[in-house]
Amino acid sequence: MQNIKTIGVIGAGQMGGGIALVAALHKFNVILCDKSSDQQHKCEADHKKRLGREVEKQRLTQADADAATKRIKYVHMMDLLKDADFVIEAAVENLGVKKELFQHLARMVREDVILASNTSSISITEIAAAAEHAHKGAAARVIGMHFFNPVPVMKLVEVIKGIQTSEATTATTLELAKALNKTPIPANDRAGFVSNRVLMPMINEAFYAWMEGVAEPAHIDEIMKLGCNFPMGPLRLADFIGLDTCEHIMNVLADGLNNDRYRACPLLKQLVIAGRLGDKSGRGVFDYTAAAAVAPAKA
Ligand code: 3HC
Repeated sequence: MQNIKTIGVIGAGQMGGGIALVAALHKFNVILCDKSSDQQHKCEADHKKRLGREVEKQRLTQADADAATKRIKYVHMMDLLKDADFVIEAAVENLGVKKELFQHLARMVREDVILASNTSSISITEIAAAAEHAHKGAAARVIGMHFFNPVPVMKLVEVIKGIQTSEATTATTLELAKALNKTPIPANDRAGFVSNRVLMPMINEAFYAWMEGVAEPAHIDEIMKLGCNFPMGPLRLADFIGLDTCEHIMNVLADGLNNDRYRACPLLKQLVIAGRLGDKSGRGVFDYTAAAAVAPAKA
């Protein structure tokens, strides 16, 4: 563990940005790589805002916030990750993209560097096989490190071992998660792991309940919040996660577990086609635009 001083993070979206911030707050140097300048700027602004809020709430001193800011290096070139001691990939949920990234990483980093993916459902075994193809022995250093949104708030890291993942890789990853003040829980490499295998069918079922007119979306959510003590109803949570991501994870479950009962609800698919992706597009099941704040739109 003392060998890990610098964490490389790929992807400055919601998840990668959150992971980078948590790592910097726990005194790791961070190289945060995203090829999009827009995304980098958005992420940097979000970090500034989050740290400012922590200072305002007196949970962090200004000096500690400044130090955390200084620890994060925002870069565009992936080759700059060659100096990292541990890499966490949080790019788009696309097997082809991840395979390519891990092949590049396997060729580039030192031979003791662990390559973790924050994938929410893609097979670690398959990503590891791609890394092995690029560099012999790399597969043993590939592992899943599944964080939850919002990363600074959620305690869990689901740690997924591929068939090739070594015991040493798993042990170091569990240790790193603890050093980030998270609770790591191991799971094996089956589609959706544990979290999304259980969560996503529930969210999908909420779409069916809406589609079949069992109740309107706000009532479905209120029922689950008040009756099951969920912090967010399943449809609000779907917007928060992203409806495209939910649909994608359902497809991974259906294909990976070879069972059509996991197919995405037609209404979920329809909203994705219409570009209603949730918080990130301003509208999903619910409407988050300024107009809706004046006159709440029906979902
Ligand atoms: N980053 C950092 N902190 C955040 C945050 C963010 N993006 N969003 C909220 N917070 C913090 C707030 O600052 C606030 O802390 P403070 O008041 O002490 O400063 C605290 O969280 C509570 O926030 P709010 O008062 O604004 O709102 P809520 O009390 O409603 O909490 C929530 C927001 C934490 C998001 C809560 O609704 C929740 O826990 N929702 C469920 C989230 C969940 O299930 N996540 C998992 C999704 S599945 C996933 O990620 C896996 C993937 O593979 C799909």
